[in-house]
Order: sequence, then structure tokens, then C-alpha cells
Amino acid sequence: MAEIIDGKRISREIKDEVKAEIAREGISASLAVIIVGEDPASQVYVRNKKTACEYCGIRSLSYELKEDTPEEELIGLIDKLNKDDTVDGILVQLPLPEHINEDNVIEAIDPAKDVDGFSRRSVGALSIGSRGFVSCTPAGVIELLKRSGVEIAGKECVVMGRSNIVGKPMAMLMLRENATVTVVHSRTRHIEDICRRADILIVAIGKPEMITHDYVKDQAVVIDVGIHRLDPETNGGRKLCGDVDYADVEPVASLITPVPGGVGPMTIAMLMKNVLTAARNR
Ligand code: GUN
Repeated sequence: MAEIIDGKRISREIKDEVKAEIAREGISASLAVIIVGEDPASQVYVRNKKTACEYCGIRSLSYELKEDTPEEELIGLIDKLNKDDTVDGILVQLPLPEHINEDNVIEAIDPAKDVDGFSRRSVGALSIGSRGFVSCTPAGVIELLKRSGVEIAGKECVVMGRSNIVGKPMAMLMLRENATVTVVHSRTRHIEDICRRADILIVAIGKPEMITHDYVKDQAVVIDVGIHRLDPETNGGRKLCGDVDYADVEPVASLITPVPGGVGPMTIAMLMKNVLTAARNR
């Protein structure tokens, strides 16, 4: 029987810390959130980010742009927000419509306001171990591990997935914490054998319930970054699942994150922390 890592509780703890620091130090912090188009999942994420800002005492500015907004117009707005001293953080919700180049948009954000940590400067800083904003989801995984008492230094860590937003920064962060890190992906051979070496297995592969007990060493710590929508009608009322087959893996793990209520809520909590840092740096 694994112990469950309660991401909801830990994320609330972090938001409460941010809220208390803002109140105690009288900091005025603000986040500008930009969404282009009407992707329903993105709309939910953006709404949750605004709610978290309100909870923490962070001012949130909302920009809802039409699906056919030209790239130049979006970059013009970012330029305006870069120059605005009352704005501490700028977040452009991804994915963007196809006619907009994501890279151009991310690079337009002032690195001092890049609270998502997606820019080349932020990613570069992470990879050479200097200060900068770290992508919120992988940063949230580190917090989950630390606040659950998991020792990272010297441990075998396998990261499944190599995306720019999760897998790659995740590997860098685990390296910074002195783990021995292996990254596996869709082209890796003998993937199960490699995963079974992991003391800490971090799964961000994007395939619903792909990871069974065959991938997991006895008593490993299992972190599931995946989130997928299910049809409750055909799934016994379940609406969401992760990349890990929870029922199959839970009996062999020592600690495990559920979906929902594991990594998910941590992303927004870490975003709040990054906005506070941006406001302090100002
Ligand atoms: N889309 C999915 N996850 C994220 C995130 O963490 N930040 C932004 N900006 N967009 C996303």
C-alpha cells in the first residue's frame, strides 16, 4: 500500500505561504494573463489561475483575444505589458492558434516577467544552475517530493517524456537536486527495464494509464504528471486519469500522486510563488 501524496493540501500550503508573505510585507503583486481564442481547457486553466491570484492577494489582469488576432498585435500587447511597471508577471496561455509562432511570443516576454519560465533565458539559467524562473509544473514536482520527505540526492530518477515544458526542465531540476537522472521517451529501447531502475519515477509521457506495475520497482516513488479526460459513462464515473494506471501501480509504490489532486494543483501554486518572486525583484 502506497502513501498518497496530497497535492491539493500541499498546494494550499504554498498558496497560504504566498498569501501570508504578501500580506505581511505589504507587497503589491500583479499578473497579466493572456488567452487567445476559446479553447475550453485553456479557459478553465486561466480561470483557475485568476482565482488563485485573488486568493493570494495578487492583482490579476485579464486579456482575452480573439482566435484570429494577428501575431503582431499579441506581441504589441506583450511589449506594452513589459513596459508597465505595475505588471510583475506575464503569462500567455498555451497552446496558441496555429497562425501564431509560439517561440516568437515567448521570446517577446521580458525575462524578468517570465513567470512561466518558458523563455530561452529562463531555460538556459536553469541548465547552468543560475537564478531564473523555473517552469511551474516541474518546480511543483520538486516541492511535492521535498514536502513529502523524499530524499532526492543520490537517488536513481527516471523522467519519462522530453517536452520543453515538463520533461527537460524536470530532468535539469532533479540533476540540480543531485539525483542520477535518466530521460526516456518514445524512441527509447527496453523502456520498462530502465524505468524499473528508478527510485523516483516521474511520468510525463502523455498516454492515458500507460504505466503499469511492470515499469515500477518495488517501493519506488511514482509521480504522475499526465492528465486525460475520460468518459464517466464507460469509466465507472471517473472523469480524469493520468499517465499511470493508478490501481495497478499503487500496491507496489511507496509514495504515489493521484490524478486529480496530485501534480495538477501544484502548477498554479508555483505560479503564485513565481509572481511573488517577480514582485520582490522589481
Ligand atoms: N498550457 C498548458 N500548461 C501551461 C502552462 O503551464 N503555462 C501556460 N502558459 N500555458 C500552458
